[in-house]
Amino acid sequence: MKIAIIGTGYVGLTTGICLAEMGHDVLCMDIDQKKIENLRQGKIPIYEPGLEELLASNNLTFSTNIQEAIEFGEVIFSAVGTPMGQDHKADLKYVKAVAKSFCEHANEYKVFVNKSTVPVGTAEMCRTIIQEQTDQEFDIVSNPEFLREGTAVDDTLHPDRIVLGTDSEKAKEKLIELYEKNKDKILFTDIKSAEIIKYASNAFLATKISYINEMANFCEKAGGNIHDVAKGMGLDSRIGSKFLRAGIGYGGSCFPKDVQAFIETGKEHGHNFEIIQATEEVNRKQKSLLFHKLRKHISDLNGKTIALLGLSFKPHTDDMREAPSLTIAKLLAEEGAKIQAYDPASKHPLNNCASAEEAAQNADALLLITEWPEFQELDWSKIASSMNTPLLLDGRNFLKNPPPEFTYESIGK
Ligand SMILES: NC(=O)c1ccc[n+]([C@@H]2O[C@H](COP(=O)([O-])OP(=O)(O)OC[C@H]3O[C@@H](n4cnc5c(N)ncnc54)[C@H](O)[C@@H]3O)[C@@H](O)[C@H]2O)c1
Repeated sequence: MKIAIIGTGYVGLTTGICLAEMGHDVLCMDIDQKKIENLRQGKIPIYEPGLEELLASNNLTFSTNIQEAIEFGEVIFSAVGTPMGQDHKADLKYVKAVAKSFCEHANEYKVFVNKSTVPVGTAEMCRTIIQEQTDQEFDIVSNPEFLREGTAVDDTLHPDRIVLGTDSEKAKEKLIELYEKNKDKILFTDIKSAEIIKYASNAFLATKISYINEMANFCEKAGGNIHDVAKGMGLDSRIGSKFLRAGIGYGGSCFPKDVQAFIETGKEHGHNFEIIQATEEVNRKQKSLLFHKLRKHISDLNGKTIALLGLSFKPHTDDMREAPSLTIAKLLAEEGAKIQAYDPASKHPLNNCASAEEAAQNADALLLITEWPEFQELDWSKIASSMNTPLLLDGRNFLKNPPPEFTYESIGK
């Protein structure tokens, strides 16, 4: 089937490459000229394990021409960004732009599939935009994306579920054909439910994280070991062990903005999401927890050298959006501390060292921020001896065996 993907970011690129891998003819389009040029030369603009190996597919092309893309596809995926606006709502300007282009260039029946995370009612808004401009027959489908950065390829090729919100039998048939390889994973719903499922899922997972973080903070006060508490909870199959790891809060391109946008959508519909607001508030505080722990050891940070290990919002990605490292780095800079940071993938200017060892050199404390597996293998005793003070604050409860050379503190123990 001929498929066009509009917006070739984390979601669009992974979707496009994986659909080509499944045997479809895919055209990935983006307004970012440099990104498309690089992709044409086989260069992947993001760090995502397994993606580059699949890029060489013969049935995958790239373009910056929206008309070409829309004329090409029987199914048009919109996978543009929906960043958080000033008002904390999802900014839909890119989605609206795609809908406008769709009605300008759709020259025969096509299915417009919204893959971006968008508030309930967005598909209807797109339908109105398109219908105002054209009499061309089309259908709208809401197909929210659930991939996780770091395991995006596997999540796309072998998804837990494919949610398809549509009110059209014709579109249903097209989408079944498109997702033939995973058709047993399809859940058909109405359009609004599909839009809500995405936000409800992300808000639930974020709540699980804030919940265990709150338990960790309680353990620190009351006594108890959050590791054992989480394990004991997770063994209950109704609860499950995933997303029960205490740490310094969630970040990334999805949870923070989606939680905020969902709260705002609630308000628009006269609904106050009390639980989700608490989730967001707990997370906001949690992101600066490591900094406050550090201050208990070093009251005056001015002129001190602080090593940060890991900057990306989670391992196996270079994505720094809303990463807790940014909150911590800002607080450290405000106190006049010097930052030496190392992350295996991040391209952010904060990543100013070539290795963990270099970051730790002469440092007064080391903050472990992202749980990259390779940090487990570091020669911690060597690192301790290269530091001014061997103080290690583990923001992810990551190190299985706290190195004895360090004054070591983690979250909730
Ligand atoms: N990143 C994730 O892990 C993830 C997971 C699930 C859902 N989502 C959702 O998917 C959507 C896309 O997220 P992302 O992380 O891939 O974003 P991204 O910022 O990486 O990519 C978006 C791309 O869209 C392009 N774009 C913007 N306007 C365009 C236009 N008019 N025409 C063509 N291209 C245009 C941008 O240049 C950019 O390359 C968001 O709604 C996000 O919430 C993201």
